[in-house]
Amino acid sequence: MSELSVNHLLGIKYLKEEDIQLIFETADHFKEVINRSIKKVPSLRDITIANIFFESSTRTKLSFELAEKRLSADVINFSAGQSSVKKGETLIDTVNNILSMKVDMVVMRHPNPGAGIFLSKNVSASIINAGDGAHEHPTQALLDSFSIRERLGGVAGKKVVIVGDILHSRVALSNIFALQLQGAEVKVCGPRTLIPKYIESLGVGVETNLRKALNWCDVANMLRIQKERMDLSYFPSNREYTQQYGLNKAILKSLEKEIVVMHPGPINRGVEITSDVADSGQSIILDQVENGVAIRMAVIYLLASKIKQ
Ligand code: CP
Repeated sequence: MSELSVNHLLGIKYLKEEDIQLIFETADHFKEVINRSIKKVPSLRDITIANIFFESSTRTKLSFELAEKRLSADVINFSAGQSSVKKGETLIDTVNNILSMKVDMVVMRHPNPGAGIFLSKNVSASIINAGDGAHEHPTQALLDSFSIRERLGGVAGKKVVIVGDILHSRVALSNIFALQLQGAEVKVCGPRTLIPKYIESLGVGVETNLRKALNWCDVANMLRIQKERMDLSYFPSNREYTQQYGLNKAILKSLEKEIVVMHPGPINRGVEITSDVADSGQSIILDQVENGVAIRMAVIYLLASKIKQ
């Protein structure tokens, strides 16, 4: 396969396994590029990309911007908080105004699930979903799988447990789709109140006991409790959550085998994971961030190749 089967990256749900492998092979090349002394290639000098963020972000926003600049694209950045959205301008009007400045691609983070899909049906640019509410965060799942592949030599046949606030997590859903497409086995672990009822219909196992889940897995992806998306109280207190679902060094050492620890960030240190675990040799959290640039370069490069056709 030499090109993606899609014109937008709206979710992992819309990708084929071959798309993921093509993105990884392209990211392997770009990872080598960004470790050179000159970290830039001229590939996208004729492409203009708008990063439009309606929600806060550190990793995704900076990583996309760096990926675009490493590919020599022209980049404009838009944050809803400092824009005319505050004066009532709609999403379509906002994006169409940006596109009239001859923009080819839009990277968008938005609080509403499906915002990227809506945009792709209403504007002419290629759209990359940088996280839409609790729906999908496709580039996060791609960089997560790429990091597992790098640490363990592959994803097929690996057992991955996603721990914590599955209900409010776009990272969980995109990871489930990506891992299953590549032949990994996936379980989720957390309090029943934070596990959506439909999850088993996706072929995902459910385990409410953290120690059992960790003894089963090769990789544990620890998620943040997303208080900002919670309209109710889903567990008694942070202290009780941490007692039952927090990963600490004592639990890690007591397991039957050495597992790989991941976290998409931002971390609530001392809640879902202790600092000594997050900063340990078993953690690949900063590898995930590093790999995010190569993965996003690959996605942008492959989608831009389709625009140029
Ligand atoms: N992992 C992730 O999406 O982090 P940001 O919200 O900082 O972009």
